[in-house]
Order: sequence, then structure tokens, then C-alpha cells
Amino acid sequence: MMKQMLFGLLAVTTVSAIDISISSKGNNTGGFHYGLLHEDIDNSGDGGLYAELIRNRAFQASEGFPSSLSGWYPINGVILSLNTLKEPLSSALSTSMNVAPASGRGKAGFYNDGYWGIDVKVQPYRGSFWVRGDYSGHFTASLQSNITGERFGVVNIKSKSRANAWVEHDFTLTPTKNVPSSNNTFAITFEAAGLKSKSLDFNLISLFPPTYKGRKNGMRRDLVDALEGFHPTLFRLPGGNMLEGLTNKSFWNWKDSIGPLRDRPGFSGVWDYQQTNGLGLLEYLEFAEDMGMELILAVYAGLSLNGDVTPEDQLQQFIDDALDEIEFIRGPADSKWGAIRAALGHPEPWKLEYVEVGNEDWLAGAPEGWDTYKEYRFPLFLKAINEACHSTDPDIQVISSGSVYDGYDIPSPGAGDYHLYTTPDTWVAEFGKFDNVKTPHVIGEMASTFPNGGTGWNSGVLRPFPWWQGAVGEAVALIGYERNADRIIGAIYAPILRNMNRWQWSITMLQFAADPAMTTRSTSWYVWELMAAHPITKTLAADVDFGPVYYVAGKNEKTQGHVFKAAVYNSTNGADVPVKITFDGVAAGTTAELTVLTGPKDPYAVNDPHTGVNVVKTRKTSVKSDRHGTFSFRLPNLSVAVLDTKGRRKTIKREF
Ligand code: AHR
Repeated sequence: MMKQMLFGLLAVTTVSAIDISISSKGNNTGGFHYGLLHEDIDNSGDGGLYAELIRNRAFQASEGFPSSLSGWYPINGVILSLNTLKEPLSSALSTSMNVAPASGRGKAGFYNDGYWGIDVKVQPYRGSFWVRGDYSGHFTASLQSNITGERFGVVNIKSKSRANAWVEHDFTLTPTKNVPSSNNTFAITFEAAGLKSKSLDFNLISLFPPTYKGRKNGMRRDLVDALEGFHPTLFRLPGGNMLEGLTNKSFWNWKDSIGPLRDRPGFSGVWDYQQTNGLGLLEYLEFAEDMGMELILAVYAGLSLNGDVTPEDQLQQFIDDALDEIEFIRGPADSKWGAIRAALGHPEPWKLEYVEVGNEDWLAGAPEGWDTYKEYRFPLFLKAINEACHSTDPDIQVISSGSVYDGYDIPSPGAGDYHLYTTPDTWVAEFGKFDNVKTPHVIGEMASTFPNGGTGWNSGVLRPFPWWQGAVGEAVALIGYERNADRIIGAIYAPILRNMNRWQWSITMLQFAADPAMTTRSTSWYVWELMAAHPITKTLAADVDFGPVYYVAGKNEKTQGHVFKAAVYNSTNGADVPVKITFDGVAAGTTAELTVLTGPKDPYAVNDPHTGVNVVKTRKTSVKSDRHGTFSFRLPNLSVAVLDTKGRRKTIKREF
């Protein structure tokens, strides 16, 4: 008994209060961006963000992938085969699917099982397909169960097809039932007796549910809602490794990604699958516009993943491409590329302030890749972009794809990009990394990927999902970056989305599948959401050391609110930390909203899409400053907290 009492006494750790006094002096920053990056990895584009439901809709091939019939299945014994006609649908889509009925009577057709299923709801699905061949009668498009065959929606489409021409057919299909299972297929059938020839050729067979903001060729609503929910204000596009491409013949060429879908040849994806290019530059720009995000446009810089480096005397073509792309985005509607943008439906130029040259040029083809980047590739892009753009408003900040920590003394007026995928302990060790760096930087890719003690990049194993301790580590890093928001443009989580049916990178902010019930906000999503929901436009100086409480304080000059963001990592014996905070200029009796995020006991706990359990607890309380103007509260170990005298500024548009 005595022993137990003694043990009890020893186990209670008293942690003295951390007393923080915040000055009214600091740096005006205009705000720190919490952002996202997109490239098509983990089927986060095709089969993900891009709302197209039909997999392999146009039998596209590329340097890395042959045409195939993947995703397509015969109905009633028809023979399906790939066909390269003398007169293809377009030069971009040169292969089609030939459909030859087994007999001259009865129904013939084919079906597609989507990106591992199709979500069926009572809503209008807009579809289209191109057909070549002489057929009179009707086509029937339908959505049905892949298990029972039950049909949920059917529409007849009168044939307009002709013997020697490609003819497009459009339809709207509205199912009559909300179907709980996404194990469904999409089929097109026709009457074999209506054929004048032996077969028909089909291409570009497409089906879209209602998209985010109703955009044609747009994005999947529930995924954008979840992304929008963490309030990103910066969008780095496109990629990632996707920008670089497998070789210098197959980099992500933005010119192949605009215009009618039949003119987009597809892209030889760098993450082991062919891409459609349906999610192209214009779609990315509209997505950013709809989400209210500023842009970091990444332009191909003449280095590909296999180490192909463009010699100096051949680089101009890529510089010209980049200048064309910048003009496409922000040139007036009467400029050459601005006019093309206007013809595609967007006469208004977009705001474009940041252009990044390449992606991680320190990595592929080392050391030649990085040496040539520093010797001539970055300097030439920097000079050309500055010359072309500095007479216009706003000027463009050109960003190098490496940072000062990659051994680059970035020439002025360039900025840097720092990427890190690491352990929670490393984030904490890196706190303060940018305190004395003068060159502006963006943290262009970051995430907790490895457990503490996990070894380096090549031998480390990514955790299966973002986990609570990893998310707290990210919070420490974000706080370190936001403290330097006068020079750090923002921080970007990557990659953001993972299709649970095919993925190459386990750690992502959101997990999803065809069934929207699987869409899961990770532990990191909750941390980033809280940090982004309380913008600071002026960081304020404070007076104590950091650890175990890491914090940034500041003012939101729009709301006149005072904001304190903190993360507690490794407190003594895991005890709660009492915090006292006083802001110069905040009166006694002021009420503030305190939001504290905590996880479960197990620091490795995750939000697993298969269980749907959210392990992150959110507690909101009201705290009043005492007669000295001090706010007092306790923060648990491994917690992330925000105190805001004006409360949350951003709201989650839709609650799930
Ligand atoms: O985010 C996944 C990959 O990590 C990106 O494509 C690349 O830039 C980085 O190495």
C-alpha cells in the first residue's frame, strides 16, 4: 500500500507554467499560405479529383504504356478489339474500340467498371461517346449493379451514326435510386439487327456526375469539398514528379492538356499508369479559381526523371513554352495565348504571382541535373521570365526548385523551394530552420511520412496513413514556418489524395474510393484546417524559448484579432503544460476562443477509411483574460491549439 502511494506521488509531474508575453511589434506579412499541390499520383487525378467515371475512356497510349482494353468487358459475346483506323477520331486519339456482335440478332454491347466502381445516386449523369459505322436504331446507356445486374438508370439515344464518319452522341442519364454499393458498371448496348456492317467503332466514351460548381469536365464534388474544408489559399501545379515526366520526350506538356478532349493525346504518367490529360491546365486554373487559391505555376525546366538534361543550346524551346504558358494564364485576351484562353471560355486573365522553374532539380540525374540547373537552366529561365513579366502588374516571383539547404545560393530576385518528408522528431529538430534565411522560400512539399527512428528516404518505410504524432510534428514545422512569414510564402502538403484501390504513396491528406463514404480526412487534415482557419497578417515578437510548447503569435489586421497557435511535443513525462499568455494591447476581461486538438493515447493512431473513426478530438472553450490581461489554460502533450480573440475566421462550408 505504502509502495503504491509512493509510486502515485512520483508519477504526478508538476510542470511549471510557461509565461509568454507577446509584443505589439512584429513583421507585417500579409498572411501565410496553407496550400496544396496536385499531380496525378495514387489515381488522385484520373479516378480521383477529375470526375470522369469511365476508366480508359479513349484507349490512350504513350511512351510508357500501350493502348489496352483495360476496364472494358463484352456483353452477349461481342468481340472487343483495339482498332487503329486510317481515319481515327483524331490524331491525338488514334486507337478506338471495335465492337463486333457474335450474331446478327439480339443485343450487343460492352460495359466499363469505372475506377474500381461507380457511385450511383439520383442525379443527372452527363455522358457522351463517338461512334463510327452504319447503324440505325437506338443505343442504350445504363448504370447497373455489378453484383445483381439490377438496372438503376437507363436512357435510349437515337443513333446518328454514319458509315464513314465519327459522330458524337450525348445523353443524360438519371438513376431512380441512391445505391449504397459502388460496385456498379456503365454499359452501352445496341441491336445487332440495326447494323449495316459487321461492327461499330467507339471512342471517347465518357460519363460525368454533377461536378464541383457545375464545371464541364470538372472535379469530383466530395473530394473538393474536403480539400476546400481545410481552407487552402495556395495551389502548386502541376506536380511533383509529374511535371518532369519519365523522359524529356514525355514531360507534362501543358499544350497537350488544353482544348477539346479529342485533341488531348494523354500523358505517360510517372506513377505507373497512363493519364488521360482530361485534368489539364485550364481545369487546374478553374479549380484554383473556384477554391480561391493563389497559384504557383511550375514550368518544365528541361530535366526529366530518367536524368535527361537539356543542353543549353536546346533550352530556349522550353523557356518559350513557359513564357507562352504564363501568357495563357495572365496575358490579356488580345495576346496570342490570352486569345486562346478566351476562346476556351475564360477571357479574364488569372492572377499569377509565382512561377517555379522545374521540380526538385537537385534529385534526378544528379549531379549533372543540379549542376546544369545552377549553371544555366535556372538563370536563363529567371532572366527570361523577369524580362517578359516585370513590366506588367503584378510582377512574378520566380522560384527555384531547390532551396538554400540544397546548396544553392539562389540568384536574386529568385526564391527557393524546400521539400521535406520526414519524422515528427525531425520537424521539431528543424524548428527555427528559416529564422536566419534571407532568401524567400516556399515549403513546396511536406508531410510526416516516417515514424521516429525511421531511417532515410530509400530504406525508410512510409507509415500506412498519416498518424496523430506525425500531424503534431507537422504543426510544429508549420508554426516554425509561419513565424518567418515575412520570407516564407507558405507551406504545402503533398500528396493530397489517395485512391484506396491503387496507390503509390501511402501518406496523403485524404483517402477515397469510388464510394464517397470512404472519403476520409486524415489526422493531418484536422491540424492543417485549424492552423489555416486563423490567418495571421502580422507576426508578433515574443520572449521565451520554445519546447515543449512551440508557438507563433500574431495579429489578424482584418479582424483586429490576436492569434496564438501552439503545438506541444514531448512535455516532461507527457504532462499537461500550463500556459499563460499576455498580448501587449489586449485588455483585461477580453474573451478568446480556444480550440485544442488532441489524439488518442496511441500516438500512431490513424483515421482509417475502412473504419470511418476519427481519432482527433476537438475541444472548443471560451477563455477570459484576467485583470492583468493574461489568458491561462493548460495544453496536453501532443496537442495543437489556437487561441483567437476574434474566433474562427474561415468556416467549413459543409460538415460531414
Ligand atoms: O509527393 C510525391 C513526390 O515527392 C513528388 O512527386 C516529388 O516532387 C517528391 O519527391
